[in-house]
Amino acid sequence: MTHHHDHAGGNPDLLPPGAVESAPRHPRDPLTAAEIDRAREILVGAGLLTESVRVPMLLPDEYDKTELAAWRPGDEIDRRVDVTLLDAATGDVTEAIVSITRGEIVSQRSYDTTTAPYGQPQYLFEEYERAAEIVKASTEWRTAMTRRGLADRMDLAFCGPLAPGFVGRENEVGRRVIRSLTFLRDSEDDIPWAHPVEGLIVHVDLVTNEVIGIEDDGDIPVPAGSGKYTPDAVGPARDTLKPIEITQPEGPSFHVDGHHVQWENWSLRVDFNAREGLVLHDVRFDDRSVLSRASVPEMVVPYGDTSNTRFWISYFDAGEYLLGKNGNHLELGCDCLGVIRYFDGYVADDHGHAVKIPNVVCMHEEDYGVLWKHTEPGPVGAQVRRSRRLVVSYFSTIGNYDYGFFWYFYLDGSIQVEAKATGIVFVGAGIPGAENRHAPEIAPGVFAPVHQHLFSARLDVSIDGDDNRLIEIDAARIPMGADNPFGNAFTWTATPLRTEHEAQRLADTSVARVWEVQSASKRNYIGKPTAYHLVPEPTALLMADPASTVAARAAFATKHLWGTAYDPDERWPAGRYPNAHQGGAGLPAYTADDRSIDGEDLVLWHTFGLTHIPRPEDWPIMPVDYAGFWFKPYGFSDVNPAMDVPESSQAHAVRSGAEEAVDGGCGEGAACTCGH
Ligand code: NI
Repeated sequence: MTHHHDHAGGNPDLLPPGAVESAPRHPRDPLTAAEIDRAREILVGAGLLTESVRVPMLLPDEYDKTELAAWRPGDEIDRRVDVTLLDAATGDVTEAIVSITRGEIVSQRSYDTTTAPYGQPQYLFEEYERAAEIVKASTEWRTAMTRRGLADRMDLAFCGPLAPGFVGRENEVGRRVIRSLTFLRDSEDDIPWAHPVEGLIVHVDLVTNEVIGIEDDGDIPVPAGSGKYTPDAVGPARDTLKPIEITQPEGPSFHVDGHHVQWENWSLRVDFNAREGLVLHDVRFDDRSVLSRASVPEMVVPYGDTSNTRFWISYFDAGEYLLGKNGNHLELGCDCLGVIRYFDGYVADDHGHAVKIPNVVCMHEEDYGVLWKHTEPGPVGAQVRRSRRLVVSYFSTIGNYDYGFFWYFYLDGSIQVEAKATGIVFVGAGIPGAENRHAPEIAPGVFAPVHQHLFSARLDVSIDGDDNRLIEIDAARIPMGADNPFGNAFTWTATPLRTEHEAQRLADTSVARVWEVQSASKRNYIGKPTAYHLVPEPTALLMADPASTVAARAAFATKHLWGTAYDPDERWPAGRYPNAHQGGAGLPAYTADDRSIDGEDLVLWHTFGLTHIPRPEDWPIMPVDYAGFWFKPYGFSDVNPAMDVPESSQAHAVRSGAEEAVDGGCGEGAACTCGH
């Protein structure tokens, strides 16, 4: 079940770990440890970061594009951070832009969390510990646990810190609140999520550091079944799986210079920050721009349960918890196979000190089956080329769930984005055998509420430059008649989406809907605008009622597509502080002016995700579920851009049944079954 880093065939000397850690050489390089620590010094020097002040969020400040365009290699870079400061003693919030280069505070302002529309800065790691201590020390909780006969289980109990959502209840409006749900553990190494104490909800104010409310409903027994999934609990691993080793004897096909990556026709810059995690810049194919900046900056996990314990749950894992700050150190669990290039990430801790997340971003190549193939009778015979993709990925763990974010670049110019949801489904307890229309029973007495994982990708598209247009393409039926005498005919429609309101769209698989991003100026060799298609995958949008507060807070998830005119400050689909926010921030606000996006610098926001009605197979640990989309060239290249991919050697292929390498390929002719 666990495995280690056996990068078979990889020459470790080729890939020195941490080799890119040096002073930034490009404006798009991620923050370094020295920069984060320097920003902290400047904040301390300015009197902004005092004893009681914490750093919920520290990010690179976004460059203006004119600033970026003017920059040339060797120029000094004005490196800036965008920081949110929280006075833990008062709850006061200050935002500041700090120039590390100039050693000064560029701007600062206070953010009022106490008046509408509210909103709280991201949680501090220390608040999880503090909340648990406050709960466990409280008379209210101890009384409830004792009432339930759980007095002897209190020491090992896990008090999970959960974002409160927002429904306008008195004890959550304008306050910094965590709701704590209790889970039992049989031992220090037990998995608490399997043992929920149903109906026990403790409300904690993180500024006054007190319990401000407790709900203690019912007396449903705590499920006793084990939630363990480690080898010691599962028992002997099967021994039937033979090794698969990926060998790349000549090393990988990519070249890395700092954070710049060149792979086949692709080039891009790899960036990482505390909130969005992986960010890709300057994505180019055939040295022509495709994406200026791309990331998945927000997601929401709304629960569809009416129970008191869970109706408020609607986690914004980026905006409330910070996906990047919770990024996995990938050496701790190998996610990739082959010759791997890692990138370290640096984030600020609660006190603003730099923290290194070693190997947070993983980059490698994968064989991906057939790229193109045709068997033509006669002398042409069979022609087949193998597909390969460059994979750039990271994983983030937020409480019980783990999310992988994978960006795939293909030889044919396609980009695929895939979120992987795994980890432990969030459960409550119920009477075994009871029916619950909001939470199927997935193990005896274990009920997993229905919920969604809805992600928002932000694509600052740049098809052959910034002047782009957005068109909705539908396949279109034609009524049988004079224009369609045999009934077989169909065509397509192309509807320009010229403004931010027109660009708020739903996907429609019944008409194979895609969204075309065209260059407004560049044409291909048949005279059509060069273009890419955003190809959505079937995804339910937000299931919550439009009148609900979660629909206001996660408005991004009520449309599959949003298009906005580029603004460097517009980066957060649900706003800067979705935690305990009453809603309306982010995309609804960004698009309020209904700006033109026709021939402008266009940004697309795409909602994709999973609607999860949990099943027994998701327990006790959930196999990866996938959600994503494609961004595919459509007349961007004049012809198939992967015709010059060489025929693959089958020197290492093995005929199944022969169990030995077939010398010189699979033998004569095309009638060969390779072992893959
Ligand atoms: Ni789920």
